[in-house]
Amino acid sequence: MKVLQVAAEVFPLVKTGGLADVVGALPQALAAVGADVRLLLPGLPAILAGIETPSLVCELGPMFGAGRVRLLRGMLAPALPVYVVDAPYLYDRPGNPYLAADGAEWADNLQRFALLGWVAAHVAAGELDPGWQPDVLHAHDWHAALACAYVAARPVRSVATVFTVHNLAFHGLFSPTDFFLLGLPSRFMAPSALEFHGQFSFIKAGLKFASRITTVSPTYAQEIRTPELGSGLDGVIRARGNHVSGILNGVDPEVWSPASDAQIAAHFSAADLGGKAQCKAALQQALGLTVDAGAPLFTIVSRLTSQKGLDLVLDALPDLLHQGAQFAVQGSGDAVLEHAFRQAMAQHPGRVAVRLGYDENFAHQMIAGADAMLVPSRFEPCGLTQLYALRYGTVPVVRRVGGLADTVVDASDDHLRQDRATGFVFGPATADALGRAMQRAVVAFRQPTLWQQLMRRGMAQNFSWEPVAQQYLALYHEAVVTL
Ligand code: ADP
Ligand code: GLC
Repeated sequence: MKVLQVAAEVFPLVKTGGLADVVGALPQALAAVGADVRLLLPGLPAILAGIETPSLVCELGPMFGAGRVRLLRGMLAPALPVYVVDAPYLYDRPGNPYLAADGAEWADNLQRFALLGWVAAHVAAGELDPGWQPDVLHAHDWHAALACAYVAARPVRSVATVFTVHNLAFHGLFSPTDFFLLGLPSRFMAPSALEFHGQFSFIKAGLKFASRITTVSPTYAQEIRTPELGSGLDGVIRARGNHVSGILNGVDPEVWSPASDAQIAAHFSAADLGGKAQCKAALQQALGLTVDAGAPLFTIVSRLTSQKGLDLVLDALPDLLHQGAQFAVQGSGDAVLEHAFRQAMAQHPGRVAVRLGYDENFAHQMIAGADAMLVPSRFEPCGLTQLYALRYGTVPVVRRVGGLADTVVDASDDHLRQDRATGFVFGPATADALGRAMQRAVVAFRQPTLWQQLMRRGMAQNFSWEPVAQQYLALYHEAVVTL
């Protein structure tokens, strides 16, 4: 099975969130179960700098406003072949792949991600690199979705397409007056295609034209069929029937393992939890919190956006602190949330810590050193930090939504009796419900035998990529056979 994966970010070169972690791990996992996988990425500075042995595949000439576009092929360590679209006019700029320094979308995102999709479709058709033609083109999120429309616009279908929704909230919406820039037939500017309330939407290209659609957890695959979480696209998704499915993400053990993690103060495992206390003390010290083994330490590592429900945490914080707990957050995003967390830190020195910004290494310390990790999201397609937390014996406190509902088992009396509980799960998106869940966690923390039971059970969960890759492979076969 030959598979071309197409995405805008990949760990460790460019990462804004969980998408990069998935794109960094899935191709290798597919290769390990026998697929012939290549990845296609935009030529962002860190990607061009991080690719080994790049060589020219072909010159594409001027396209999408860029004077010079070239297709390169190189390797991403350890052994993944990667195509890179080198278009300096569109991609050679510092900062975030999607946003300019002022936080607004790059003004030419239409051209930047249309080019990515165009090149993907033409590699898939065997026209740019005659030496390799995939059976499946697998596009991730709206940035890569247009590939599915370019494939569908061709007179002959030679490749199956799979589109994975990592986050349905981001559509890639543009003005109808710019539709002509895509170079697609005008029939694609219709409600049955890319049109969305007068504009046109990249994500609709994936939802309408991909042979199969997946999302990153079974529960989110159901939720996006509903008006509540369908982001205005629930009708489109329902219409795709059983061609929409959920495949839960895995965890890369090379990156996230407490027994070998080079970023943390001490190593530990389910069999020997000793190092965890050292990680906690080191974290408290680094954050300027009172070093106190007896204070339950709750942390968050997250984009600070409304998706993540962090306003609930702010409301529930005074009660949590009242119970003797400590709280720390690392993240960046919404200025109002950043300000509010900073204020909380000023009001509670030694008990609340805030690290604004993005710091991959420190994220490991936040996850390893905490007792509990909060993920109170309003919606969560999969969520990775609760999975990392489980591996590090950090007990997750999560909302019952999306991938959070699929990966954390609440410490109810029944689940404790059945020896299944791994965390604390709450329902309504309210500070009250979150507060009660955190309170249950504090009470459990004060019962060391129970708490260690939760830690060990979490650490024993298996979120290996191997079975995930097998599921994608089965889906690719189905898509190819029914092409
Ligand atoms: P999302 O993709 O919606 O942001 P996920 O939980 O799937 O949520 O993935 C988030 C990823 O980004 C995790 O790897 C997490 O550790 C990382 N992350 C988020 N915020 C930060 C930050 N401020 N510093 C370092 N890593 C972060
Ligand atoms: C998205 C989602 C997150 C998911 C990640 C990787 O960014 O918000 O829930 O874990 O993609 O699939």
